[in-house]
Amino acid sequence: MPVETQILRVDPQNPEPEAIAQAAELVRRGGLVAFPTETVYGLGANALDEKAVAGIFAAKRRPADDPIIVHLASAEELNRVVASVPPAAKELARRFWPGPLTLVLPKKPVVPDLVTAGLPTVAARVPDHPVALALIREAGVPIAAPSANLFGRPSPTTAEHVLEDLAGRVEIILDAGPTPIGVESTVLDLTRPVPTILRPGGLPREALEEALGEVRVEDKPVRGPAPSPGMLDRHYAPRAPLTLVMGDDHALRGFLARVAREAAAQGRRVGLIVAEEDIPALKDAPAVLQALGSLEDPAGVARRLFSALRVLDALGVQEIYARDFGESGLALAVRNRLMRAAGGRVLRV
Ligand code: TXA
Ligand code: MG
Repeated sequence: MPVETQILRVDPQNPEPEAIAQAAELVRRGGLVAFPTETVYGLGANALDEKAVAGIFAAKRRPADDPIIVHLASAEELNRVVASVPPAAKELARRFWPGPLTLVLPKKPVVPDLVTAGLPTVAARVPDHPVALALIREAGVPIAAPSANLFGRPSPTTAEHVLEDLAGRVEIILDAGPTPIGVESTVLDLTRPVPTILRPGGLPREALEEALGEVRVEDKPVRGPAPSPGMLDRHYAPRAPLTLVMGDDHALRGFLARVAREAAAQGRRVGLIVAEEDIPALKDAPAVLQALGSLEDPAGVARRLFSALRVLDALGVQEIYARDFGESGLALAVRNRLMRAAGGRVLRV
């Protein structure tokens, strides 16, 4: 059943209380609200209301085996959803919350199985965005929220992106402009003997290592169990097939220039996702260039990534080649998202 989607503009620093009250009331009634966090826009519902959470899965067309993050207004609220809070969680919360870090911990029975996809654990975080915090506080309940995109699509970093995917599927979008970080939170599993990063994200691995000592990175396989036969596990994906290209700068630039020329000769439109430093070598290439920023500024690259994927879609390119940006700081999250967008199509040149 399509609903009417209402966009409420709010000040990112001091959100208007009337807008927050209206959105919070909707959450309490079991409705869906898209709201900004410091990472990406989330599609929120009352985390303790199983029917409301079912609405999230329906709106996103998300399969039920993918658990959802629970958002809290403060670290003190962790014990509303988590059975026990180990010392490591307290320390990480003290250092990094509010912030782009999600902690996986043993869940309390009050958290519906639908939120955790039947797992005995729950993923929780305190977002660092005045609008998100005001909404959670005013709603008075923890808010379950995945990224506010259709399943498989790039995550939304603006309210326009949310509208592109979810118009008619969400009642309220709180629009506070672009999100400052632009990639999702780092998901850290604290239920294992060694803390394990399940998804690299907005909080760099290096920061966690400094806080905890040893940290493992155990990324889900890119070619996971296929949701339906013949379908790759492709996420964050633009419509055009994307290939991730790895190699040294010189080889990368030569390869991308050649690919663009060959495609143009065959009448195909190619999109290239590159670094600022690549532009001199590629400015004459017959391709649509999306420069994400300097190789020296992985945070800037991360911030522009999802938007660039959507722009290339809107321009109707038929293939996309993306350069690798390395793995220091937020570049690790960028590599992870590009790998997934590529559905495993990685070339080494
Ligand atoms: O930055 C973010 O994390 C954004 C904003 C809205 O907070 N949210 C987000 O949610 O990216 P979503 O649903 O797109 O991704 C949630 C990730 C998934 O990779 C999911 O598998 C993992 O968190 N996750 C959730 N609950 C989990 C659990 N109990 N155990 C392991 N992984 C879990
Ligand atoms: Mg997502």
